[in-house]
Amino acid sequence: DAYETILVETRGAVGLVTLNRPKALNALNAQLIRELCSALEAFEADDAIGAMVVAGGEKAFAAGADVKEMAAKTYAEAYLQDFVSDWKRVSALRKPLIAAVAGYALGGGCELAMMCDIVIAADDARFGQPEITLGIMPGFGGTQRLARAVGQAKAMDLILTGRMMDAAEAEGSGLVSRVVAPERVLDEALEAAAKIASFSRIAALAAKEAVQVAAESSLTEGVRFERRTFQALYATEDQKEGMAAFVEKRKPVFRNR
Ligand code: HXC
Repeated sequence: DAYETILVETRGAVGLVTLNRPKALNALNAQLIRELCSALEAFEADDAIGAMVVAGGEKAFAAGADVKEMAAKTYAEAYLQDFVSDWKRVSALRKPLIAAVAGYALGGGCELAMMCDIVIAADDARFGQPEITLGIMPGFGGTQRLARAVGQAKAMDLILTGRMMDAAEAEGSGLVSRVVAPERVLDEALEAAAKIASFSRIAALAAKEAVQVAAESSLTEGVRFERRTFQALYATEDQKEGMAAFVEKRKPVFRNR
């Protein structure tokens, strides 16, 4: 496909999408959102791909939704077009998705990172929800996902003051799982994705789904979902292979069945 705002490549079993509007600090305009969703869905549909990475540039992962594009929008347009509802397509992906964040991840950029399953950050990364400074508020899930990721106290602070947090604060508060040097961030994400893609795809998708249920259910319901899903994996050849390989002290060969 001829994408204009993103770069798409595969590295073995990993699909990589790089946001590519560097002059606008990867501001997320409608075209970029459409292209990003299409590219991720194409990887989702591709049997050769086991995990995906979304990366930005050195200065910005993404500095937010495109303010220039949104500035003149009316309520009627926003409502009737169901503005920003496209993002449901990212959170509906079943294959694991990793964000490699260097530089600014602000507004919709921070929200995109939070839609990913794992966020790996460069030590120069800066996260924030500055929408309030523009007379609006987060609209791609930021109020919900940030509160779940870092807790209500820090989410309120960030969303109501618009301040940024650095990578250390983001890691300490649970938004980010690893912080590495800027020159390592993409490789760290690609290596993690390759590792995930090397496992049984059934196990990986089931594990992702179960962790997602944690955010949506009571502990009892979540543990019940986990147990049923865990039990179901005993119906797979990959479980037999994984355990046989352990016992026989060899590397497993997972066939995703
Ligand atoms: C459109 C943007 C942009 C954005 C940066 N640019 N962010 N364009 N939308 N979100 C453009 C600038 O206009 C400028 O273009 C170029 O990128 C470089 O940016 P500078 O501001 O010159 O860079 P710098 O001085 O280094 O400052 C970096 C920055 C700042 C701190 C990240 O750009 C900034 O504050 N950006 C806006 C961040 C923000 O408010 N994000 C939330 C957006 S609302 P020119 O043409 O002048 O060179 C949002 C809502 C989501 O995300 C919810 C759903 C609607």
